[in-house]
Amino acid sequence: MARKTPYHAPATTKSGDAMLKNDDVEDLYLPTAQARGLPAFAYTCEDFAREEQRNLFAKTWMCAGYAHETPNPGDVLPRTVAGVPILFTRTKSGEMRCFHNICTHRGTVLVPGEASGQQALRCRYHGWTFDLEGNLRATPHWGGHNQPSAEGMDKSCHGLKQVRMHQWHDWLFINIDGNAEPFEDYAATFLPHVAEYDLEQATWCKTMPYEIAANWKLVVENYLETLHLNFVHTLLAEVAPFEQHAVVADKACLGTIIDVGLPDAWSDAEALPRWPGLDADNRTAKNMALFPNFKFVAGPDHCASMVEFAEGPGVSRQRWDFYFVGEGGTAERCKKARDAIIHFYDTTNVEDFEAVEAIHQGHTSPAMTGARFNGIWEGGVHHFQKLVADRMTV
Ligand code: FES
Ligand SMILES: [Fe+2]
Repeated sequence: MARKTPYHAPATTKSGDAMLKNDDVEDLYLPTAQARGLPAFAYTCEDFAREEQRNLFAKTWMCAGYAHETPNPGDVLPRTVAGVPILFTRTKSGEMRCFHNICTHRGTVLVPGEASGQQALRCRYHGWTFDLEGNLRATPHWGGHNQPSAEGMDKSCHGLKQVRMHQWHDWLFINIDGNAEPFEDYAATFLPHVAEYDLEQATWCKTMPYEIAANWKLVVENYLETLHLNFVHTLLAEVAPFEQHAVVADKACLGTIIDVGLPDAWSDAEALPRWPGLDADNRTAKNMALFPNFKFVAGPDHCASMVEFAEGPGVSRQRWDFYFVGEGGTAERCKKARDAIIHFYDTTNVEDFEAVEAIHQGHTSPAMTGARFNGIWEGGVHHFQKLVADRMTV
């Protein structure tokens, strides 16, 4: 759906430490209806956004990639995540790996672009060569002219540096600092909510990128409450009444769930296969999120992920990926139904983004001294802000 060119609000700076102080968040920890939200600089300040890369994204499990993008042995895909150059590889044996995308000799970015059919990764600077498992294989002239080895050089100590990764179905989560709890523990409150969908049957269908002129947190917060539905959304408000959503806010898991949230008329429902084992009368729509950047919607015959990548304080790049059940993702006879679902979400997104961009502009005002939360509907937003503050307060 076409969008108006958004207004990019100028980033702010803050004198002194950009992190939150106890004073900034004292009222955030009050009960939801009395609490005051994060200070505006947490949404607009360049330095705060930089600190988030180090103190928040790098220390949690963030979604950083998709296995379907590197389907074959020899596929490599570089990406910058939380400001860090990383590299996904698909090894000869078909396993996914994630490394820091820098040569262990003198730090050159190793793989500049996506490629396939790679047997080895050769650094452009002095030719150090690594296999797709990250092992250092060749060090040309290291021991002298045409002498590839030098005495005392132990290649096994100079392999690519691994990034801790957990593959959950198609989604690749990374923990850059390597110190987070195991993924299964981190996601323990999230995983049961989606266990009813047999995601091994999910067939990737389409990617849709969006750029939103707003802080990434405002985009996530908008997703976590339904109070805005009647004001911002047309079709969604009709099919999924805001008051029928239940709010989820439990450790790293957030979201809303509605049991009658799918319109019969949005597609030729007959055409799309449902998740195997799901009750015939299941019409639940789940809008879940795993802190910090992974959002996941699911219904009886589809799911989609929305992943937020912060780019400075004022731009969020959101990437949607749609999946359907088995051949539902590719069969021609299902195309009309797939398109109807994708159109539904796309329309809803664009409505959301325009609202979120207006919130971001509002946060550049000195009069914005922290959000107020409704105790019935906005517990998820409040919980999310506390998860941010827990990691960003010194
Ligand atoms: S920096 Fe890569 S081989 Fe020297
Ligand atoms: Fe919305």
